[in-house]
Amino acid sequence: APAPKRAKKIARDAESVDLGKKKVTLFFGSQTGTAERFAKTLADEANARYKKSVFKVVDLVSIDDYAYENHEYEEKLKKESLALFFLATYGDGEPTDNAARFYKWFFEAKERNVYLDNLQYGVFGLGSRQYEHFNKIGIEVDRILAEQGAKRILPLGLGDDEQYIEDDFTAWKDLVWLELDKLLCDEDDVAGLSAEYVASIPEYRVVFLNHGDESQMQRKPSLANGHSVYDLRNPCRVNVAVRRELHTPLSDRSCTHLEFDISGTSLKYETGDHVGVYSENTSETVEEAARLLGYPEDTYFTLHAEKDGTPLSSSSIPPPFETPITLRDALAKYADLLSSPKKAVLIALAAHASEPTEAERLKFLASTDGKDEYNQWVVASQRSLLEVMAEFPSAKPPLGVFFAAIAPRLQARYYSISSSSRVSPSRIHVTCALVHGPTSTGRIHRGVCSTWMKNSIPQGENQECSQAPIFVRQSNFRLPSDTSVPIIMIGPGTGLAPFRAFLQERLALKEAGAELGPAILFFGCRNRNIDYIYEDELDNYVKQGALSELIVAFSREGPRKEYVQNKLSEKALDVWNIISQGGYVYVCGDAKGMAKDVHKVIHTIVQEQGSVEGSKAEAYVKNLQMEGRYLRDVW
Ligand code: 2AM
Repeated sequence: APAPKRAKKIARDAESVDLGKKKVTLFFGSQTGTAERFAKTLADEANARYKKSVFKVVDLVSIDDYAYENHEYEEKLKKESLALFFLATYGDGEPTDNAARFYKWFFEAKERNVYLDNLQYGVFGLGSRQYEHFNKIGIEVDRILAEQGAKRILPLGLGDDEQYIEDDFTAWKDLVWLELDKLLCDEDDVAGLSAEYVASIPEYRVVFLNHGDESQMQRKPSLANGHSVYDLRNPCRVNVAVRRELHTPLSDRSCTHLEFDISGTSLKYETGDHVGVYSENTSETVEEAARLLGYPEDTYFTLHAEKDGTPLSSSSIPPPFETPITLRDALAKYADLLSSPKKAVLIALAAHASEPTEAERLKFLASTDGKDEYNQWVVASQRSLLEVMAEFPSAKPPLGVFFAAIAPRLQARYYSISSSSRVSPSRIHVTCALVHGPTSTGRIHRGVCSTWMKNSIPQGENQECSQAPIFVRQSNFRLPSDTSVPIIMIGPGTGLAPFRAFLQERLALKEAGAELGPAILFFGCRNRNIDYIYEDELDNYVKQGALSELIVAFSREGPRKEYVQNKLSEKALDVWNIISQGGYVYVCGDAKGMAKDVHKVIHTIVQEQGSVEGSKAEAYVKNLQMEGRYLRDVW
């Protein structure tokens, strides 16, 4: 008779025949790439860790790409036996763009009973404790999976971006190995596993071209770049038509009004949508990066994710950007050089540091023992990738490693569109505050996109105008379809952006004969002589009847700070009348401070003006949100 262990192995083999290969599917819902990066890291490490095991496949899936039709989700999920979900929550407790369709389907599937009793799963959520709906998506998906009969093999991971999310992930990953070792390995294999596995460093193959090869250089991409639907992956390159400063010369800050010219493209938007913008690093940043890498800026090269036709194995290698390209352009357009480097980046730098003390120090910072120091020296002091590279001058990674493993891809930034599509169908307006301030190392941190916008060159200035690849992201921030419904808008600072669009739209509707309900705007800024953006326009909307009441909180004029939430309290009765008569409430701007406080005030107004006690008031406000009458566009 076979030994017990042997019997177990045979049983497992039989099972694996039933299910095909034993497979782990890693789903990610990622907005800025962190969830995706975690999933990829885990995929790489799992592939290496279970190499010997014969019945294992690791699959990495962006969750909305998993099924083209909603009904396929069910069929496909039922065939999964082991899955890990990496799900970010962003904005106002929303799923990421690439998880929105899945989430909606899955949330509604609650009623349909999608039995997933074949599935073992774990969820790692990514969120920030500063926000009201901390990790809502991860929490919900974890709960619904369990309700549908799936077996939770790991405690829900709650990554907190406000603290050290990398550490949260590392701690959760340790639990993952404990469980996966049990499920995927034979006892023999487990013994052979190294305690800490370091994934191989991804790398592109690089081919350097001569400068004579200019014929291979792409010409500036034409404006119509062949796609009719534009999105994150296929943005549309457009011109900057208008740029102007919105603060007065008295201001020590800056806020840019920018207009993108979308005429002649198939880009479309609706009032209330967001625009995603890919910008470029400044020439100073690019120069510094090229110097640290030790290559001239006009180095001309191509990148390849395969060698002799075979893909370079690592799943964490991002698809290469379009080449041939000069190093200058590649650094400007595709490399995130100013964010703090992750631990995997330090390991990749260490591998290419010729000075052993530097290599050791980098490895230490990336290790478990160096955790506190990493958190202090890198994260808390906001050291940028370039600052870190400058501290380790012997670390000179080749370009193939730099673009695959060291500099993350520069991400698009999102802005609430500040124009109405009815009034400006061929222009997308953006209202963007400059991100600018000293860090504890003495560096001045400059936001990549806001700096680019501030310095951009509009059409008609005797120079080539600036261009940016952009795309539109739909939102649910919409005016009521019935124009006579009263509305309240709350938006201090650049939170004014979508309300400027709403007011443009309302004026146009009025001119076209529509009957407008009352509209109150609560705006906040520091001082009327400094940062009262779009003042003339707002006054004009009042005069023209698109805005019934304009209430401005000036935070640095009088003896004490006045914020929009104070003004809202003062207007409690009017606010309650609008809410109780079926009106809409809109909030736009900072989520962590303003929107939280405004939420409390709305709650208090319902309680006091509506004479509704505590828990009922809460339910009342929840219901407003469910009905889509209390909408927030917050960040
Ligand atoms: P402050 O900078 O004087 O604190 C636009 O940025 C306006 O929003 C400014 O007047 C700013 O005031 C104000 N603001 C800052 N924090 C806020 C908060 N938590 N709630 C509401 N308004 C706030």
